[in-house]
Amino acid sequence: EKGGFEHFMLKEIFEQPTSIADCMRGRLDIAQKSIKLGGIEAYINQLICAPKITIVACGTSWLAGVVGEYVIEEFCRIPIKVEYASEFRYRNPIIKPGDIIIAISQSGETADTLAAIELAQAKGATVLSICNVVGSSIARTTQAGIYTHAGPEIGVASTKAFTAQITVLILLALSLAQQRKTIMQASFEELIDELANLPDKVKTMLQQECKIKGLANLFKDATNFLYLGRGYNYPVALEGALKLKELSYIHAEGYPAAEMKHGPIALIDENMPVVFIATQDRTYEKIISNIQEIKARKGKIIAIVTQGDERVKQLVDYVIEVPATHEALMPIISVIPLQLLAYYIAVEKGCNVDQPRNLAKSVTVE
Ligand code: M6R
Repeated sequence: EKGGFEHFMLKEIFEQPTSIADCMRGRLDIAQKSIKLGGIEAYINQLICAPKITIVACGTSWLAGVVGEYVIEEFCRIPIKVEYASEFRYRNPIIKPGDIIIAISQSGETADTLAAIELAQAKGATVLSICNVVGSSIARTTQAGIYTHAGPEIGVASTKAFTAQITVLILLALSLAQQRKTIMQASFEELIDELANLPDKVKTMLQQECKIKGLANLFKDATNFLYLGRGYNYPVALEGALKLKELSYIHAEGYPAAEMKHGPIALIDENMPVVFIATQDRTYEKIISNIQEIKARKGKIIAIVTQGDERVKQLVDYVIEVPATHEALMPIISVIPLQLLAYYIAVEKGCNVDQPRNLAKSVTVE
C-alpha cells in the first residue's frame, strides 16, 4: 500500500506531480486558456465583488492560506486576511452578513476550523471551503467549495495536500482576476502555461532526492535551524520549519528574511544552519544581502536557488537547484526540497515519520 516506498510520507511527496495534475484536471483548459471552478460557480459573482476575503485554517493549511493571500492580493486586488481558526473563533471577529470566508482544511475535520466556520455562518457570512477529504464535516458544513483532489494523505505531515491547496488558490486567484479585469490577458495566459508545466517541473525537482539525502546526513545532529524567505517564499520558509519540527523534533524557526536583523540574527554562529529560499524573483537582490549578513556571522547556509544561479552559489555552503517558474507558482516547487530535507533528517534520526510523537492526522479537539 506504500507503493514500494518506505513511508507513506515519501510516497505522498513523490505523488505530487500527479496530485497537482489531478487538482487542475477539468478546471484548467490549456487549449481554451480558461479556468473553470464548478464547485463555487453559484458564488462567483459574490467573490468577484467581494470587498475583502477572510481565510481561516490551521497549521500547514494556514500556510497555504498565506500563499493564497499573496496571490489573490497581487492578481485580484482584493484585501485578504488569513486567520488562525483558533484565534478567530475566540476573538469576537468583525463579520457582517454577506462577508466571504474561505476555510482551508485537508481533513475537513479540524475542530477549530469547523468552529470558526460555524461562528461565521451564525453571523451571516458565506463560507466556502478548500478541502481534500470528500464529504468531510467542513465540506458538508460550508455553502460550497473546491476539492483539492490530492487523494488520501496518510502521513501526519501534510505534503501533497499543501501543494494542492496552493494550486486551488492560484486557480481561484486567476479566475477571479480575469473576471475582475485586474490581470492582463497576456499575463493570464503565461500563468496558465506555467501551471500546465508545473507537474513536470515538480518531477524534475524530485530527481534531487539523493543530494538532499546527503545534506540530511550532514545536518542531522543540529539542534536548531532557521528558515528564511521573502515574498512568495516567506510562507514556504515557515512551512519548511514546521515540517522539520514535527518530523525530526529539531527546533526550527521560519522568518521573513529581512526581519532577522530585528532579533533572530543574535542566534547566528557557526553552529546555526540556515535554509534560505532564494529563487530569482522580485526579492532576489534583497535576499542576497540577507545571505551576506548571515555569512558574515559564520552561519552554515543551505540555499534553494533557481536552476543555473551562480551568485548565491558563490556565497553559501550548499545549494539545491529548482526549475524556474513564475514567482507566484514557486512555492509549489520550492517547498519540495524542504519536505524531503525534513523527511530524510527524521529518517536519519530514527523518528517515526508517518506518525510523529504527540501528533494526530486530524486535530478534532480544540
Ligand atoms: O486537516 P487540516 O488541514 O485542517 O489540518 C490542519 C493542521 O492540523 C495540519 O496542517 C498540521 O499542521 C500538519 N500536521 C502539518 O504537517
